[in-house]
Amino acid sequence: MAKVRIGLIGVGNISKLHAQGYALAPNAELFAVCDVNEERVQERKAAWGATKAYTNYHDLLDDSDVDAVEIITPHHLHAQIGLDALAAGKHVSMQKPMATTMAECDQLISASNASDQMFRTFENFQYYPPLVRAKELLDSGSIGEPLSMRIKTTIGTKQGWEIPYERWSWRFDPEKGGGGRIMLDYGSHVFAIAQFFMGDVEKVFSWISHQTIQHGWKIDSPAVVIWKYKDAAKYGSFEVIQSDEILVQSDHVPEDEWFEITGSRGFIWVNRCSSRLLDAPPVVMYRDGVTTNYSDMDTNWESTFIAGCNEFADCILAGRQARLTAEEGAKIVQMCRGIEQSARESREVLLDARVE
Ligand SMILES: NC(=O)c1ccc[n+]([C@@H]2O[C@H](COP(=O)([O-])OP(=O)(O)OC[C@H]3O[C@@H](n4cnc5c(N)ncnc54)[C@H](O)[C@@H]3O)[C@@H](O)[C@H]2O)c1
Repeated sequence: MAKVRIGLIGVGNISKLHAQGYALAPNAELFAVCDVNEERVQERKAAWGATKAYTNYHDLLDDSDVDAVEIITPHHLHAQIGLDALAAGKHVSMQKPMATTMAECDQLISASNASDQMFRTFENFQYYPPLVRAKELLDSGSIGEPLSMRIKTTIGTKQGWEIPYERWSWRFDPEKGGGGRIMLDYGSHVFAIAQFFMGDVEKVFSWISHQTIQHGWKIDSPAVVIWKYKDAAKYGSFEVIQSDEILVQSDHVPEDEWFEITGSRGFIWVNRCSSRLLDAPPVVMYRDGVTTNYSDMDTNWESTFIAGCNEFADCILAGRQARLTAEEGAKIVQMCRGIEQSARESREVLLDARVE
């Protein structure tokens, strides 16, 4: 295989960044596109120079010229398409969240273990250069022993993508979105980062309020979540607020997030991620009375998709596993579910016990 021939299943809003990512990946060719919306799929095929266009994903899976698929549909379709793709002998890159229930996650883990093909959950924040730099600093012992992690998210007023109503509305439909817009859809990113930095989570506690926003959509915000890592007395927290009075400058969704990692000798801050809220150096470290700013890195959020698409193709060619494995993807869904359950039942939830 000279280049990995990729098929995109679901070519809605975010697929534009995957298309860009695969166009720039030296080891990949964006070969086929599929969407139930015929007009959209034909328009994407022409714009992206793909060879084939399908309106039924089974036909794309039957195409022996397709080596690997990127599944970018609404959440309730993830598991079935993923299982069908593995059964058809395709490598699979699955958009977060990997699935909407733990039973589906288990099915994907089994199918992935039984398959010679690679399955990965694609969570893009892990490729964001400031977060990558912060993780390198942490792992090299720059702030000593990791002790805690704080994550803060602000959803503000619109100054980002114009997202058509029907492309956003499925996220607020429990059947299609599979859970809270924040805790599952968005939370899959920040809870992946929480685990990426400091390991597996033992238990969670949360308060989640719900507010009604435009179109009568119910959003699971404001909310506060705390967790304890499995590894000793290490803790994390996540706070989210939505306010239409806060301007979030963004080329995408008007939400941004920042991170604070505390170590035994100091702190690391990552001051912005998916948008441009705080005008501060992207990474700052404090240690031994000295504050160091790090600005020598790409802060374009779209670079996360380029890196993630690149890694998928490179790993297929090299016979390596790309992040995240099916098991790692399932741990993130488990954390989201545990957090939702904690708020519902006003108690801490242990993640070892399966939470549906
Ligand atoms: N930062 C990120 O990584 C990020 C950002 C946004 C969305 N996403 C993920 O990407 C996925 C899609 O989100 P979106 O915002 O692009 O949604 P979207 O609604 O814009 O796109 C989904 C597309 O899937 C198509 N579709 C529906 N059923 C299909 C089927 N059976 N076969 C083929 N196509 C089908 C729809 O017609 C639509 O074009 C979700 O999993 C979401 O969580 C990830």
